[in-house]
Amino acid sequence: MTLAWHSQTLHQFFRHIRGSPNATWRPISIPGGDVTVTDLPHALPQIQKNVLANVPPDHIPNVCALSWGIDQVHFPQDYDFVLGADIIYLKETYDLLIQTLLHLCGPRTTILLSSKMRKEHGTMDFFQNLLPQYFNVEIVKRDAKDDLNIYRMTCFQN
Ligand SMILES: C[S@@+](CC[C@H](N)C(=O)[O-])C[C@H]1O[C@@H](n2cnc3c(N)ncnc32)[C@H](O)[C@@H]1O
Repeated sequence: MTLAWHSQTLHQFFRHIRGSPNATWRPISIPGGDVTVTDLPHALPQIQKNVLANVPPDHIPNVCALSWGIDQVHFPQDYDFVLGADIIYLKETYDLLIQTLLHLCGPRTTILLSSKMRKEHGTMDFFQNLLPQYFNVEIVKRDAKDDLNIYRMTCFQN
């Protein structure tokens, strides 16, 4: 299994899914999995610390810089899963993020994005109008209390 996710995504992702503020990074230790954690270059030292503090030594993932719209070309295009949490909040990065997801998403890839639905950031428009131009998009879970949605996406050829 290959898996890419964005920084603390699984923590946030499983917290959204379980509705528990105490979810930990534990789920990222996938025996036999090939896991890559990405973020902007300046964030990597903190990510490395978080990984070392929370992941069993025999399942340490790759930690790599990936600036959306720039670095994705250095990454594979056949991940099983690409996970992202709380990364839809800067309108000027939306096109760059889509370019990145299009590169990472192969025919077998499932992308899961969890997001707070912030009106001021046009998050609903991103998921309902922008993303569907490039991906099959469906909502898989909604937490109305915290206004959090989780979406599943696949490439059009799937
Ligand atoms: C609100 S934080 C969420 C962090 C983490 N996913 C979580 O749930 O705790 C947004 C993340 O997006 C990253 N980010 C923002 N712009 C980016 C870009 N252009 N390329 C790559 N990462 C970016 C930030 O560095 C930050 O880690």
